[in-house]
Amino acid sequence: MVIASGVAVREIASADEVDLSGFCCAGIREPWALEVEEAIRKDVHQFVGQPGFHLLVADDLFATVGVLAMRRSSLMPAFASIPVLAVSVNHRRRGIARALKTHALAVARLMGVTAVTSEVDVDNDAMLRLNTDLGADIRPKPSADAWAPFQRFQCTIRLG
Ligand SMILES: CC(C)(COP(=O)(O)OP(=O)(O)OC[C@H]1O[C@@H](n2cnc3c(N)ncnc32)[C@H](O)[C@@H]1OP(=O)(O)O)[C@@H](O)C(=O)NCCC(=O)NCCS
Repeated sequence: MVIASGVAVREIASADEVDLSGFCCAGIREPWALEVEEAIRKDVHQFVGQPGFHLLVADDLFATVGVLAMRRSSLMPAFASIPVLAVSVNHRRRGIARALKTHALAVARLMGVTAVTSEVDVDNDAMLRLNTDLGADIRPKPSADAWAPFQRFQCTIRLG
């Protein structure tokens, strides 16, 4: 699948098929980003190729510029979650996250999944907007401490 900006989305089946050494989602005011990048690299090597785990990447001519990981629940196969969706900081606002997520939803639908969930920080305008556009049901996720204000939304996209 090719996006208008010259970026192609593909699903990878083995860690050898992707090089994330240059993947960078760090931007100003994103001190967490190095941890996210490290977690993505670790997840790729640990989980790619395992049953129920899908890794989609978006590549431009030179490098991987977007990553999405999706897991299908082994206990409830009608459900899947997307724990990772990140786009390289220099490639944002070009529809890459939208293309990755749309592609992942198509993969999920083909597998018979009927609901795909993700968690989004309350201040992540980009992801909340994208989930809204994709028809997600967005609800506050209760925090472990019942008195604490909630920090995240649970977004559920129903397929079917
Ligand atoms: C969130 C993220 C993945 C979006 O990637 P992206 O490729 O820039 O997103 P897209 O270009 O596909 O944008 C999709 C829609 O999101 C919204 N959006 C994107 N960036 C936005 C921003 N900075 N502010 C508000 N809305 C935004 C827009 O509605 C956009 O559609 P439009 O451009 O047609 O209006 C990217 O900003 C990122 O990697 N952030 C850090 C990691 C992260 O927060 N991941 C999500 C964890 S739940």
